[in-house]
Amino acid sequence: MKDIENQEDLYLLVDEFYKKLLADPSISYIFTDVVKIKILEHLPILVTFWSQAILGTGGYTKNLTEIHLDIDKKEHLTPELFNIWLGHFNTTVDELFAGQKAEQIKTQALSIATIMQIKIINNKKG
Ligand code: HEM
Repeated sequence: MKDIENQEDLYLLVDEFYKKLLADPSISYIFTDVVKIKILEHLPILVTFWSQAILGTGGYTKNLTEIHLDIDKKEHLTPELFNIWLGHFNTTVDELFAGQKAEQIKTQALSIATIMQIKIINNKKG
């Protein structure tokens, strides 16, 4: 199996990942009801984000935590939802890729998810 090498690889990854998210009713409603994402517009943004994070290309300028705090205001993003998200993400990576970048993207996803959850908790206290 090959490692993640370029933006085409990342597109394949996020495309397959979102197929899993949208096919799982325990989380899909966030993407279809709470926020109505337009998948064809959404996937290239995810590619830009991950390309910056693991291929070092740059180009993503928005505040990702802020975006998820806004979603949490509409519908609480629980630890369970984060676990489901991470489970589908890791499964997709492992189904498609193996290597240093594949490990790196899973580690990054976990640390970002952890930071988001800390900010969500702190936000509720304030
Ligand atoms: C419970 C877990 C999560 C849920 C339910 C969730 C849901 C969503 C939704 C509904 C959007 C669209 C927001 C909008 O367009 O207004 C979004 C955007 C996004 N999410 Fe998440 N998310 C989760 C966790 C994560 C994590 C852990 C990461 C990264 C490691 C991530 C990365 C992104 C990116 C890159 C975008 C695009 C933001 C943009 O438009 O600039 N998400 N997410």
